[in-house]
Amino acid sequence: MTTETKSENGWVSELYSVNNPTDELKYYEETAAVYESNLKGLNYRAPDFCFVALKKFEEESGFSVPRDGKCIDIGAGTGMSGESLRSAGFTGVVDALEPSDNMYSIAEQKGIYSTRYSDLLLAEQETSVPGNSYDLVFSCGVFNNRSATSKCFPEAVRMAKSGGVLSIVINNNYWEGDFELAINSLEEEKIVKLKHTEAIDGYFDGKTARVFVLHKL
Ligand SMILES: C[S@@+](CC[C@H](N)C(=O)[O-])C[C@H]1O[C@@H](n2cnc3c(N)ncnc32)[C@H](O)[C@@H]1O
Repeated sequence: MTTETKSENGWVSELYSVNNPTDELKYYEETAAVYESNLKGLNYRAPDFCFVALKKFEEESGFSVPRDGKCIDIGAGTGMSGESLRSAGFTGVVDALEPSDNMYSIAEQKGIYSTRYSDLLLAEQETSVPGNSYDLVFSCGVFNNRSATSKCFPEAVRMAKSGGVLSIVINNNYWEGDFELAINSLEEEKIVKLKHTEAIDGYFDGKTARVFVLHKL
């Protein structure tokens, strides 16, 4: 595991030079020890944006995700997103899907997650996570065009209960095109309904987040 602190921008540009799931996983394995210090240095705010979007959806729709319900954090990393879930008042079971052992060994110490699934999301492949199981499927900073691509998105939807909610934050650069089309097609198939989406500045310094909330039908 790398303990040397890469400059924050160096960490991001090396990550963006990766172009497949195996290399992305290797990169997180190698840099897990500096992940949190780098992300805090970059003012990473994606997990909090997930709740901004979720609360707007709840206000707009009158629907409420049970705070004592069952959640899964896809790409849980070192547990920063799980900490946000707890701060936002989610008291129920939180499971993690996280393929990097080194990232998850940091998350595990936080005592947030009940079950960890170590699968890597791969295009059009089912993971070992049970389907139709979660009130809230939550994911921050994981879906992109390198590793967990839009072709993996139906697998996240499979995990949600019918009537459950998905609240997702990605870099806005990946929204137009692949992700927007993937969600349009899930809507056409009447599998989900897109309930809220917006771009919010400050995903991390200099980047815009795209948040989206889906209701599984
Ligand atoms: C930017 S980190 C986000 C961690 C955490 N959600 C947060 O907000 O701090 C991305 C995480 O996604 C995981 N990841 C990368 N590719 C993945 C894939 N194809 N399937 C599942 N997880 C993946 C990485 O191991 C890493 O822990």
